[in-house]
Amino acid sequence: MTDRPLAAAVVGHGLVDPAAPLIAADDDGFARGRAAFETLRVYGGVPFRLGEHLERLRGSAARLGLPEPDCGALSEIVELALAASATREAVLRLYWTPGVAPAGPRGIALVSAVPGWIEETRSRGQRLVSLAFPRRSSPWLLPGTKSVSYATHMAAEAEAKRRGADDAILVDLDGTVLEGPVTNIWWREGRRLVTPSLELGILAGETRAALLELAGAAGYELEPGIYPLERLLTADEVFTSSSVREVMPVAGVDDRRFESREAASALQSALRRAAGSPPSS
Ligand SMILES: Cc1ncc(COP(=O)(O)O)c(C=O)c1O
Repeated sequence: MTDRPLAAAVVGHGLVDPAAPLIAADDDGFARGRAAFETLRVYGGVPFRLGEHLERLRGSAARLGLPEPDCGALSEIVELALAASATREAVLRLYWTPGVAPAGPRGIALVSAVPGWIEETRSRGQRLVSLAFPRRSSPWLLPGTKSVSYATHMAAEAEAKRRGADDAILVDLDGTVLEGPVTNIWWREGRRLVTPSLELGILAGETRAALLELAGAAGYELEPGIYPLERLLTADEVFTSSSVREVMPVAGVDDRRFESREAASALQSALRRAAGSPPSS
């Protein structure tokens, strides 16, 4: 179980009790997993790249056939929930569901504490295992869409844990590296940073986008593309990126161990500077 949210707000209702039911049982977002969502990190009370996350939410909602999100109203409930949470370092989740008649679409903002395991894990590095996971190669597989239908992603993470690792690297049936269940994947070859291309139908991570902007100034060349797992396994260093976990060093993938943290440390510091936040421990 995750910790309960510290605060919640709903478009048209304002602040609500985070422990109260916020969604109807016949909302398709609950009943069929047909809702869009976003997860953001809040630094010093300010959500990082909120505009970009709202833009991605609009894209997900369009692919799911949902009404267009009311980004102005969502921004307002973000402010309300953040103020009520009384915390400046937080995780913010935004949901956009089709809702039920006559009210129509429902926008929800939840503010939660940053999970404590993240900094502990950052200092030791994550252990990953590769798991086969067919890429989203057709429009009806919803490429690049952040929907609440995450059961297969969560099952992949659970399988990785069952095998004694922390998380999974999802690889297509032909062995092409895709992403993690909730992260983007990166590796370093000398001064070159490699990450799977968005052409693969993976999620266009906002942290990935931030790191692509920051990598040049940190002295790295970029090579997004389509690569087999074997190429990652010969890298000098591997790391993952996500809004909540930020830049997470990887200590091992399958039977291969990785010692270097060079790029992960440099980019984690650069990310924190870009977010106007002190470096992590
Ligand atoms: C499948 C998947 N890939 C990548 C990411 C990383 O995206 P972001 O950096 O926007 O958090 C996520 C985040 O939840 C994800 O679910």
